Amino acid sequence: MLLKVENLCKDFPVEFNVFGKPIRFLRAVQEVSFEVEQGSVFSIVGESGSGKSTIARVLSGIYKPSSGRILYRNEPLENRKRSFDIQMIFQDPDSSLDPRKTVAFIVEEGLHIHGIKDRRERKELVLETIKSVGLTEDVLKKFPHQLSGGQKQRVAIARSLVLKPRLLILDEPTSALDVSVQAQILNLLMEIREIHQLTYILITHDLKIVNHLSDQIMVMYLGQVMEMGETEQVMQDPLHPYTKGLLASVPKVDSDNLSKFSMTGEISSPLNPPKGCVFRTRCPLAFDKCQERPPLIVHRNRKVRCHLYG
Ligand SMILES: Nc1ncnc2c1ncn2[C@@H]1O[C@H](COP(=O)(O)OP(=O)(O)OP(=O)(O)O)[C@@H](O)[C@H]1O
Ligand code: SF4
Ligand SMILES: [Mg+2]
Repeated sequence: MLLKVENLCKDFPVEFNVFGKPIRFLRAVQEVSFEVEQGSVFSIVGESGSGKSTIARVLSGIYKPSSGRILYRNEPLENRKRSFDIQMIFQDPDSSLDPRKTVAFIVEEGLHIHGIKDRRERKELVLETIKSVGLTEDVLKKFPHQLSGGQKQRVAIARSLVLKPRLLILDEPTSALDVSVQAQILNLLMEIREIHQLTYILITHDLKIVNHLSDQIMVMYLGQVMEMGETEQVMQDPLHPYTKGLLASVPKVDSDNLSKFSMTGEISSPLNPPKGCVFRTRCPLAFDKCQERPPLIVHRNRKVRCHLYG
Protein backbone atom coordinates (compact mmCIF):
# COMPACT_ATOMS: atom_id res chain seq x y z
CA MET A 1 0.00 0.00 0.00
CA LEU A 2 1.47 3.34 -1.01
CA LEU A 3 -0.68 5.51 1.23
CA LYS A 4 -2.84 4.78 4.24
CA VAL A 5 -4.91 7.51 5.86
CA GLU A 6 -6.52 6.76 9.21
CA ASN A 7 -9.16 8.91 10.91
CA LEU A 8 -7.86 12.13 9.44
CA CYS A 9 -9.40 15.29 10.89
CA LYS A 10 -8.63 18.88 9.97
CA ASP A 11 -10.08 21.83 11.86
CA PHE A 12 -9.59 25.46 10.92
CA PRO A 13 -9.84 28.18 13.54
CA VAL A 14 -12.50 30.66 12.41
CA GLU A 15 -13.07 32.85 15.48
CA PHE A 16 -10.58 34.25 17.99
CA ASN A 17 -10.84 35.91 21.40
CA VAL A 18 -9.18 39.25 22.21
CA PHE A 19 -5.93 37.44 23.02
CA GLY A 20 -5.88 35.85 19.57
CA LYS A 21 -6.74 32.42 20.91
CA PRO A 22 -9.04 30.42 18.65
CA ILE A 23 -12.46 29.90 20.20
CA ARG A 24 -14.34 28.40 17.30
CA PHE A 25 -13.31 25.86 14.69
CA LEU A 26 -14.61 24.67 11.37
CA ARG A 27 -14.22 20.94 10.88
CA ALA A 28 -13.27 20.66 7.21
CA VAL A 29 -12.33 16.97 7.31
CA GLN A 30 -13.81 14.53 9.77
CA GLU A 31 -12.52 11.03 10.53
CA VAL A 32 -11.55 10.23 6.96
CA SER A 33 -9.81 6.91 6.29
CA PHE A 34 -8.73 5.48 2.96
CA GLU A 35 -5.95 3.57 1.25
CA VAL A 36 -4.29 4.19 -2.08
CA GLU A 37 -2.60 1.34 -3.85
CA GLN A 38 0.64 1.88 -5.70
CA GLY A 39 0.00 2.54 -9.39
CA SER A 40 -3.72 3.18 -9.02
CA VAL A 41 -5.93 6.21 -9.59
CA PHE A 42 -7.90 7.12 -6.48
CA SER A 43 -10.52 9.79 -7.02
CA ILE A 44 -12.17 12.08 -4.52
CA VAL A 45 -15.50 13.66 -5.48
CA GLY A 46 -18.09 15.78 -3.74
CA GLU A 47 -19.61 19.22 -4.00
CA SER A 48 -17.82 22.42 -3.14
CA GLY A 49 -16.69 22.62 0.48
CA SER A 50 -16.70 18.88 1.09
CA GLY A 51 -13.04 18.89 2.16
CA LYS A 52 -11.33 17.52 -0.95
CA SER A 53 -8.65 20.19 -1.28
CA THR A 54 -8.04 20.16 2.45
CA ILE A 55 -7.19 16.45 2.25
CA ALA A 56 -4.92 17.17 -0.72
CA ARG A 57 -3.14 19.93 1.18
CA VAL A 58 -2.65 17.76 4.24
CA LEU A 59 -1.20 14.96 2.12
CA SER A 60 1.19 17.30 0.35
CA GLY A 61 2.36 18.80 3.63
CA ILE A 62 0.83 22.28 3.19
CA TYR A 63 -1.42 21.75 6.24
CA LYS A 64 -0.78 19.72 9.36
CA PRO A 65 -3.58 17.31 10.29
CA SER A 66 -5.50 18.15 13.48
CA SER A 67 -5.58 14.45 14.27
CA GLY A 68 -5.27 11.09 12.58
CA ARG A 69 -2.46 9.14 11.05
CA ILE A 70 -1.03 9.10 7.54
CA LEU A 71 1.30 6.31 6.50
CA TYR A 72 3.31 6.59 3.33
CA ARG A 73 5.01 3.31 2.37
CA ASN A 74 4.29 2.08 5.90
CA GLU A 75 6.07 5.01 7.57
CA PRO A 76 4.54 8.16 9.03
CA LEU A 77 4.21 10.64 6.15
CA GLU A 78 6.47 13.21 7.82
CA ASN A 79 9.30 10.65 7.99
CA ARG A 80 9.34 10.00 4.26
CA LYS A 81 12.84 9.88 2.90
CA ARG A 82 12.10 11.70 -0.34
CA SER A 83 10.08 14.79 0.57
CA PHE A 84 9.45 15.43 -3.13
CA ASP A 85 7.80 12.01 -3.59
CA ILE A 86 4.36 13.59 -3.34
CA GLN A 87 3.63 16.46 -5.69
CA MET A 88 0.46 18.44 -6.21
CA ILE A 89 -0.98 19.91 -9.39
CA PHE A 90 -3.38 22.75 -8.65
CA GLN A 91 -6.53 23.80 -10.41
CA ASP A 92 -5.21 27.18 -11.41
CA PRO A 93 -1.69 27.19 -12.88
CA ASP A 94 -1.70 30.99 -12.73
CA SER A 95 -1.49 30.97 -8.97
CA SER A 96 0.94 28.07 -8.75
CA LEU A 97 3.60 29.41 -11.16
CA ASP A 98 5.80 32.32 -10.12
CA PRO A 99 5.05 35.10 -12.66
CA ARG A 100 8.55 36.59 -12.30
CA LYS A 101 10.39 33.43 -13.29
CA THR A 102 10.96 31.96 -16.73
CA VAL A 103 9.74 28.46 -17.55
CA ALA A 104 13.35 27.25 -17.64
CA PHE A 105 13.92 28.55 -14.12
CA ILE A 106 10.63 27.15 -12.80
CA VAL A 107 11.31 23.65 -14.09
CA GLU A 108 15.03 23.65 -13.28
CA GLU A 109 14.53 24.74 -9.67
CA GLY A 110 13.58 21.24 -8.58
CA LEU A 111 16.79 19.76 -9.92
CA HIS A 112 18.80 21.59 -7.29
CA ILE A 113 16.87 19.56 -4.70
CA HIS A 114 18.20 16.45 -6.39
CA GLY A 115 21.68 17.85 -6.06
CA ILE A 116 22.35 17.87 -9.79
CA LYS A 117 25.31 20.23 -9.83
CA ASP A 118 26.24 19.98 -13.48
CA ARG A 119 24.56 22.86 -15.29
CA ARG A 120 24.53 21.11 -18.65
CA GLU A 121 22.94 18.02 -17.18
CA ARG A 122 20.24 20.18 -15.59
CA LYS A 123 19.53 21.94 -18.88
CA GLU A 124 19.26 18.61 -20.68
CA LEU A 125 16.86 17.22 -18.09
CA VAL A 126 14.72 20.36 -18.25
CA LEU A 127 14.51 20.15 -22.03
CA GLU A 128 13.70 16.45 -21.94
CA THR A 129 10.92 17.04 -19.38
CA ILE A 130 9.48 20.01 -21.24
CA LYS A 131 9.30 17.91 -24.40
CA SER A 132 7.73 15.00 -22.50
CA VAL A 133 4.78 17.24 -21.56
CA GLY A 134 4.24 18.23 -25.19
CA LEU A 135 5.97 21.63 -25.14
CA THR A 136 8.78 22.88 -27.34
CA GLU A 137 12.13 24.41 -26.47
CA ASP A 138 10.98 27.97 -27.23
CA VAL A 139 8.74 28.09 -24.13
CA LEU A 140 11.80 27.88 -21.86
CA LYS A 141 12.58 31.56 -22.22
CA LYS A 142 8.99 32.66 -21.66
CA PHE A 143 7.23 33.85 -18.53
CA PRO A 144 3.95 32.25 -17.40
CA HIS A 145 1.82 35.18 -18.61
CA GLN A 146 3.09 34.58 -22.13
CA LEU A 147 1.59 31.08 -22.18
CA SER A 148 -1.92 29.73 -22.73
CA GLY A 149 -3.80 28.05 -19.87
CA GLY A 150 -3.03 24.59 -21.25
CA GLN A 151 0.66 25.42 -21.70
CA LYS A 152 0.85 26.74 -18.14
CA GLN A 153 -0.64 23.54 -16.79
CA ARG A 154 1.89 21.56 -18.85
CA VAL A 155 4.69 23.62 -17.24
CA ALA A 156 3.21 22.88 -13.80
CA ILE A 157 3.21 19.18 -14.66
CA ALA A 158 6.81 19.39 -15.92
CA ARG A 159 7.89 21.13 -12.72
CA SER A 160 6.47 18.26 -10.67
CA LEU A 161 7.71 15.56 -13.00
CA VAL A 162 11.31 16.71 -12.96
CA LEU A 163 11.37 15.86 -9.24
CA LYS A 164 10.60 12.22 -10.06
CA PRO A 165 7.64 11.90 -7.71
CA ARG A 166 5.75 8.70 -6.95
CA LEU A 167 2.38 10.19 -6.08
CA LEU A 168 0.71 13.08 -7.89
CA ILE A 169 -2.24 14.80 -6.29
CA LEU A 170 -4.32 16.41 -8.99
CA ASP A 171 -6.73 18.96 -7.54
CA GLU A 172 -9.20 19.78 -10.33
CA PRO A 173 -6.31 19.78 -12.81
CA THR A 174 -8.41 20.73 -15.83
CA SER A 175 -11.36 22.69 -14.49
CA ALA A 176 -9.77 26.12 -15.05
CA LEU A 177 -8.97 25.27 -18.67
CA ASP A 178 -10.90 25.65 -21.91
CA VAL A 179 -13.05 22.63 -22.62
CA SER A 180 -11.07 22.01 -25.82
CA VAL A 181 -7.83 21.70 -23.83
CA GLN A 182 -9.16 19.67 -20.91
CA ALA A 183 -9.06 16.33 -22.72
CA GLN A 184 -5.51 16.97 -23.97
CA ILE A 185 -4.24 17.62 -20.45
CA LEU A 186 -6.05 14.58 -19.08
CA ASN A 187 -4.60 12.41 -21.84
CA LEU A 188 -1.16 13.78 -21.08
CA LEU A 189 -1.58 13.01 -17.38
CA MET A 190 -2.63 9.47 -18.15
CA GLU A 191 0.29 8.92 -20.55
CA ILE A 192 2.73 10.24 -17.97
CA ARG A 193 1.26 7.92 -15.37
CA GLU A 194 1.92 4.90 -17.56
CA ILE A 195 5.44 5.96 -18.51
CA HIS A 196 6.57 6.85 -14.98
CA GLN A 197 4.36 4.33 -13.15
CA LEU A 198 2.85 7.02 -10.99
CA THR A 199 0.00 6.84 -8.53
CA TYR A 200 -2.70 9.53 -8.75
CA ILE A 201 -5.14 11.04 -6.33
CA LEU A 202 -7.59 12.78 -8.62
CA ILE A 203 -9.94 15.43 -7.26
CA THR A 204 -12.67 16.44 -9.63
CA HIS A 205 -16.29 17.50 -9.97
CA ASP A 206 -16.52 15.67 -13.26
CA LEU A 207 -17.96 12.22 -12.62
CA LYS A 208 -17.51 11.23 -16.25
CA ILE A 209 -13.75 11.64 -15.90
CA VAL A 210 -13.80 9.57 -12.73
CA ASN A 211 -15.74 6.83 -14.46
CA HIS A 212 -13.16 6.61 -17.23
CA LEU A 213 -9.97 6.98 -15.31
CA SER A 214 -10.14 5.91 -11.72
CA ASP A 215 -9.88 2.60 -9.89
CA GLN A 216 -11.30 3.69 -6.54
CA ILE A 217 -13.68 6.49 -5.69
CA MET A 218 -14.36 8.30 -2.42
CA VAL A 219 -17.51 10.42 -2.25
CA MET A 220 -17.42 13.21 0.34
CA TYR A 221 -19.99 15.54 1.83
CA LEU A 222 -19.32 18.19 4.48
CA GLY A 223 -15.98 16.70 5.43
CA GLN A 224 -17.19 13.11 5.77
CA VAL A 225 -16.91 10.04 3.57
CA MET A 226 -20.35 9.04 2.31
CA GLU A 227 -19.38 6.14 0.07
CA MET A 228 -16.13 4.59 -1.07
CA GLY A 229 -15.23 1.62 -3.22
CA GLU A 230 -14.30 0.41 -6.66
CA THR A 231 -15.26 3.10 -9.14
CA GLU A 232 -17.09 0.75 -11.49
CA GLN A 233 -19.19 -0.71 -8.70
CA VAL A 234 -20.03 2.65 -7.15
CA MET A 235 -20.86 4.30 -10.46
CA GLN A 236 -22.99 1.44 -11.73
CA ASP A 237 -24.76 0.70 -8.49
CA PRO A 238 -24.49 3.65 -6.11
CA LEU A 239 -25.83 2.91 -2.63
CA HIS A 240 -25.67 6.21 -0.78
CA PRO A 241 -28.48 8.71 -1.53
CA TYR A 242 -25.82 11.42 -1.93
CA THR A 243 -23.89 9.42 -4.55
CA LYS A 244 -27.19 8.78 -6.31
CA GLY A 245 -27.94 12.50 -6.19
CA LEU A 246 -24.55 13.37 -7.69
CA LEU A 247 -25.00 10.80 -10.44
CA ALA A 248 -28.54 11.95 -11.16
CA SER A 249 -27.08 15.27 -12.29
CA VAL A 250 -24.80 13.63 -14.86
CA PRO A 251 -26.46 13.40 -18.29
CA LYS A 252 -26.46 9.75 -19.41
CA VAL A 253 -25.48 7.60 -16.36
CA ASP A 254 -28.87 5.92 -15.95
CA SER A 255 -30.22 9.25 -14.79
CA ASP A 256 -33.85 8.21 -15.35
CA ASN A 257 -33.65 5.67 -12.56
CA LEU A 258 -31.82 8.11 -10.33
CA SER A 259 -33.96 11.17 -11.01
CA LYS A 260 -35.91 10.70 -7.79
CA PHE A 261 -32.62 11.27 -5.99
CA SER A 262 -31.98 14.64 -7.62
CA MET A 263 -30.76 16.88 -4.86
CA THR A 264 -32.56 19.98 -3.81
CA GLY A 265 -31.62 22.54 -1.21
CA GLU A 266 -28.32 24.05 -0.25
CA ILE A 267 -25.34 22.39 1.40
CA SER A 268 -25.51 23.14 5.13
CA SER A 269 -22.93 25.41 6.68
CA PRO A 270 -19.87 23.46 7.82
CA LEU A 271 -19.87 25.72 10.89
CA ASN A 272 -23.24 24.37 11.85
CA PRO A 273 -23.67 20.94 10.26
CA PRO A 274 -26.97 19.09 10.77
CA LYS A 275 -27.14 16.81 13.81
CA GLY A 276 -27.33 13.12 12.99
CA CYS A 277 -26.60 12.45 9.32
CA VAL A 278 -24.99 15.54 7.79
CA PHE A 279 -26.81 14.89 4.52
CA ARG A 280 -30.29 14.57 6.01
CA THR A 281 -31.46 18.11 5.14
CA ARG A 282 -31.18 17.23 1.45
CA CYS A 283 -31.84 13.50 1.51
CA PRO A 284 -35.11 12.36 -0.09
CA LEU A 285 -35.03 9.16 2.00
CA ALA A 286 -34.33 10.67 5.44
CA PHE A 287 -36.27 9.11 8.30
CA ASP A 288 -36.44 9.62 12.09
CA LYS A 289 -33.22 7.85 12.93
CA CYS A 290 -31.25 10.09 10.54
CA GLN A 291 -31.87 13.06 12.81
CA GLU A 292 -31.22 11.16 16.03
CA ARG A 293 -27.71 9.88 15.41
CA PRO A 294 -24.97 9.98 12.84
CA PRO A 295 -24.67 6.85 10.72
CA LEU A 296 -21.46 4.82 10.97
CA ILE A 297 -19.61 3.45 7.99
CA VAL A 298 -20.72 -0.08 7.10
CA HIS A 299 -19.31 -2.52 4.56
CA ARG A 300 -21.44 -3.54 1.57
CA ASN A 301 -18.76 -4.64 -0.91
CA ARG A 302 -17.71 -1.00 -0.47
CA LYS A 303 -17.98 1.44 2.42
CA VAL A 304 -21.17 3.41 2.91
CA ARG A 305 -22.30 5.79 5.65
CA CYS A 306 -26.10 5.64 5.76
CA HIS A 307 -28.72 4.28 8.18
CA LEU A 308 -30.45 2.54 5.27
CA TYR A 309 -27.64 0.00 5.34
CA GLY A 310 -26.72 0.07 9.03
N1 LIG B 1 -7.65 27.91 5.48
C1 LIG B 1 -8.94 27.76 5.79
N2 LIG B 1 -9.50 28.40 6.86
C2 LIG B 1 -10.79 28.23 7.20
N3 LIG B 1 -11.63 27.42 6.53
C3 LIG B 1 -11.15 26.75 5.48
C4 LIG B 1 -9.79 26.87 5.04
N4 LIG B 1 -9.61 26.08 3.95
C5 LIG B 1 -10.78 25.49 3.72
N5 LIG B 1 -11.71 25.87 4.63
C6 LIG B 1 -13.11 25.41 4.73
O1 LIG B 1 -13.06 24.00 4.80
C7 LIG B 1 -14.12 23.42 4.06
C8 LIG B 1 -13.56 22.48 3.03
O2 LIG B 1 -12.86 23.23 2.06
P1 LIG B 1 -12.12 22.57 0.83
O3 LIG B 1 -11.39 23.65 0.13
O4 LIG B 1 -11.33 21.42 1.31
O5 LIG B 1 -13.34 22.06 -0.04
P2 LIG B 1 -13.35 21.40 -1.50
O6 LIG B 1 -14.07 20.12 -1.38
O7 LIG B 1 -11.99 21.38 -2.06
O8 LIG B 1 -14.27 22.44 -2.31
P3 LIG B 1 -14.17 22.91 -3.85
O9 LIG B 1 -14.82 21.83 -4.64
O10 LIG B 1 -14.94 24.19 -3.86
O11 LIG B 1 -12.74 23.11 -4.19
C9 LIG B 1 -14.90 24.59 3.46
O12 LIG B 1 -16.01 24.86 4.29
C10 LIG B 1 -13.90 25.73 3.48
O13 LIG B 1 -14.56 26.96 3.61
S1 SF4 C 1 -28.58 8.28 6.93
FE1 SF4 C 1 -30.65 8.96 6.46
S2 SF4 C 1 -30.42 11.09 5.82
FE2 SF4 C 1 -28.41 10.16 5.76
S3 SF4 C 1 -28.19 9.49 3.68
FE3 SF4 C 1 -28.98 7.74 4.80
S4 SF4 C 1 -31.20 7.87 4.60
FE4 SF4 C 1 -30.37 9.84 3.98
MG1 LIG D 1 -11.08 22.30 -3.70
